Amino acid sequence: MCGIAGYIGKKEGLPIVLSNLRKLEYRGYDSAGVAFFNSAKDARCEVLKAVGKLANLEKSILGVKSLPLTAVIGHTRWATHGVPNEVNAHPHTDCRGEVILVHNGIIENYRQLKDSLSKKGHRFRSQTDTEVVAHLIEEGLKNGRNFPAALEISLKQIVGAYALAIIYKKDPHKIYLARLGSPLVVGVGKDEHYIASDPTALAGLVKKVIYLKDGQRGVLSVDGFEIGPARPKIESLDLSPEQAQKGKFPHFMLKEIFEGPEVLLSALRGRLMPKTNSVKLGGLSEVESKLKKIKKLEIIACGTSYYSGMVGELFFEELADLPTEVLLASEYRYRRYPVKPGTAALFISQSGETADTLAALRKATANKMLTLGIVNAVGSSIARETIAGVYNHAGPEIGVASTKAFLSQLGVLAQMAIFLSANKAKLHKEVIAELANIPAKINTILKKNEQIKALAQKYIKYQNFIYLGRGHNYPTALEGALKLKEISYVHAEGYAGGEMKHGPIALIDAGFPVIALATKNRVYEKMISNLEEIKARRGPILAIATVGDRHIAKLVDDVFFVPKTHEMLEPLLNIIPLQLFAYHFGVLRGHDVDKPRNLAKSVTVE
Ligand code: G6P
Repeated sequence: MCGIAGYIGKKEGLPIVLSNLRKLEYRGYDSAGVAFFNSAKDARCEVLKAVGKLANLEKSILGVKSLPLTAVIGHTRWATHGVPNEVNAHPHTDCRGEVILVHNGIIENYRQLKDSLSKKGHRFRSQTDTEVVAHLIEEGLKNGRNFPAALEISLKQIVGAYALAIIYKKDPHKIYLARLGSPLVVGVGKDEHYIASDPTALAGLVKKVIYLKDGQRGVLSVDGFEIGPARPKIESLDLSPEQAQKGKFPHFMLKEIFEGPEVLLSALRGRLMPKTNSVKLGGLSEVESKLKKIKKLEIIACGTSYYSGMVGELFFEELADLPTEVLLASEYRYRRYPVKPGTAALFISQSGETADTLAALRKATANKMLTLGIVNAVGSSIARETIAGVYNHAGPEIGVASTKAFLSQLGVLAQMAIFLSANKAKLHKEVIAELANIPAKINTILKKNEQIKALAQKYIKYQNFIYLGRGHNYPTALEGALKLKEISYVHAEGYAGGEMKHGPIALIDAGFPVIALATKNRVYEKMISNLEEIKARRGPILAIATVGDRHIAKLVDDVFFVPKTHEMLEPLLNIIPLQLFAYHFGVLRGHDVDKPRNLAKSVTVE
């Protein structure tokens, strides 16, 4: 996810902004840029950008100084609209280079805005959604409007989310701010003000901060700030610089699990349309008519993305009546698989660079198939080489074991399945309405993190686990077991409940626990039968169950309750306790959970 930093004060701002951008590096980025008034060159306003690491940007500004008391803003970009390159990096400017801004968030209606501004003569340089904001303000400044009024009129036209920090060249002693949906915090110092998209960047610099609220605007100068319309609340910042990298979290994995609700909202924002009972997926619009005629879908992926594909298979079958098959990319690429007309191939990948998935995609391309992608990393190979696709917008995932990407993939898959079919309006309505509730329900699970930690502590002595699930919870069981394997190096395998009798039950005794996904759905009773059989063999059971289920609490050893949801969406809730369980288990065993042994975040070799 992108980072914003800014400074206005008596000190030289450029090194401060660069150092604060560095503190946001952990969020991941692919390019960076700054805007400032050069202390040489008649205090000219300069915008400098570089692709890749901040070191590249620093090289290009070696020996350059910003003028104290003037505004400095900076940004680290993680590409969402347009590939990572210098032109697309922030800051962005209007036609005349007078309005200079950095932005986090998404301008959903940027295409329409861009079209109408282009007709009015505005010239766009980048492929970003952000650039339209600078041109909108330029347009707003016409007719003698002052800057705050021009900003206001521009923001009214924007649909989407933003945290904006803006410099107006004609007024170098101010930084303008606006927030809607994306975080922005102001650091209040003596004769100086800072801005950051994440308070971790301000640790050790200021003790007082103001978290901008949605709809608030602000203007900062050296000795003052105005923030409104809601009254700003000054809060104290209790964060040491050491804590800054991962924020308040000890590990990226935990941080990323806790980002779940936000990540899911990003996957749904601007796409899920409860009012019209529909889903809008801009990335598929060009192939929409072709896509709606396909007779079969093949989903191809590796690892966690493969398991999200297995949940996706059920979504496509139920929500779109579409026969679907999920295939491991490493197998698909070598299989002599018949290519039937009317079959599309969907590639799921967080990194967009996994070697097997890419090779499978190239095979499908050679076979002239309609290829689609669900990819998190913008501009990655799989994103570029598929004909059409949907981005996750989940932000960078740093923990090697995938967590938030899985959740986001499920959110996109459910929407894609709804997008593909106009039938089944009633079911679509139920799922769309419930999807919108899922982020809040995940939050209620996250609040019980300590309870899961205690469960991990209780089960820490075991060396083997079976994760059991049926229906939508079968792939969830597989993914839950994968998480435990990856992070804690204990043996864990996922099984479909119905298969228990065909082998795994032979393993069960008092020393072999089962983690059971037993939420209230159409196969609940079947799961209960499984659990009775396990109990008869003295196997310890930890069940994930629906809140209020008193019966199960009597049957199993331990139970973790999750909120009730539509049974198709249960994986989006049930995976959270399993991710947290694996995390705590790994930490308690003393492992480096962010970088488990022998594993790589992106497997770019076969
Ligand atoms: C590696 C990662 C996994 C990931 C898999 C597929 O094994 O450690 O977390 O699920 O690759 O990666 P992709 O980027 O294609 O989703």
